[in-house]
Amino acid sequence: SEINVFCPATIANISCGFDVLGVALDSVGDGMVVRKRAEKGITIVKLEGQKLPMETALNVAGVAGLALLEKSDYEGGFDIEINKKIKAGSGIGSSAASASGAVWAMNELLERPFTKLELVEFAMEGERLASGVAHADNVAPAIFGSFTLVRSYAPLDIVPIPSPSELYATVIHPQIEVKTSDSRKILKTNITLKEGIKQWGNLGGLVAGLFTQDYALIGRSLEDHIVEPIRSILIPGFDQVKSGAMHAGALGCGISGSGPSIFAFSKGQDTANKVAASMKKVYRNIGIEYDVHVSKIN
Ligand code: HSE
Repeated sequence: SEINVFCPATIANISCGFDVLGVALDSVGDGMVVRKRAEKGITIVKLEGQKLPMETALNVAGVAGLALLEKSDYEGGFDIEINKKIKAGSGIGSSAASASGAVWAMNELLERPFTKLELVEFAMEGERLASGVAHADNVAPAIFGSFTLVRSYAPLDIVPIPSPSELYATVIHPQIEVKTSDSRKILKTNITLKEGIKQWGNLGGLVAGLFTQDYALIGRSLEDHIVEPIRSILIPGFDQVKSGAMHAGALGCGISGSGPSIFAFSKGQDTANKVAASMKKVYRNIGIEYDVHVSKIN
């Protein structure tokens, strides 16, 4: 038996939620086919769209799948076909899409022996391979859908958060590659109490705004004074994209994951489209190729 799954792209961090907040995009993602087989183990039999390692132990879907197999009493194995549409190093959870898609599919084929929380734990092994850190802020929303908060890593505690009904994301990917591992290395490891206060005030405000559909509160809370000032240096045109997006009516704008993609949230599709136009203009002027997506958040 086999299953065909959609592996969503995700925006992680969402400004004030470094390593703890993320959201799934229903309209951007990879395709994957997973097939049961008698022989133990996992084989990536096909990988289209991107140049990535196919060897199981070096492939994020392979590694996440092996983590699942290790905890399963299933005697057989799986073949995986991946149709990568999300570019590696784009900042919209390319590795998370593959890792979470693989374990989601396997769990379905095995008739759901594992909880979503356990699937997140398996998929995190893929993230460990990709970035050196088993962060869950992309894989959790890919598995749970909509927004998620990683309330705690040890023990893992994921809080699903609903999306307000008119919330849209605009994401632009300037065609330069930023490796998550590199953009983690440049971060400071200490913050001041004053910075902490700002950040957790905003994080609480953002979560409250999402639950109560308070767009103005969401907008006020989309701030990050800790990571964004450092990482934005790696993204040409970031400040212009952000000010243009805010001018076009976005609620807020920041770096998607570890970049170089930039996201903005808007209330309503019209504004999200205007934000997309303003973002494109910046990269047209600078002369950098880009992809842009407008997605309703469900
Ligand atoms: N939280 C991770 C980071 C997400 O910002 O490094 C990477 O997609």
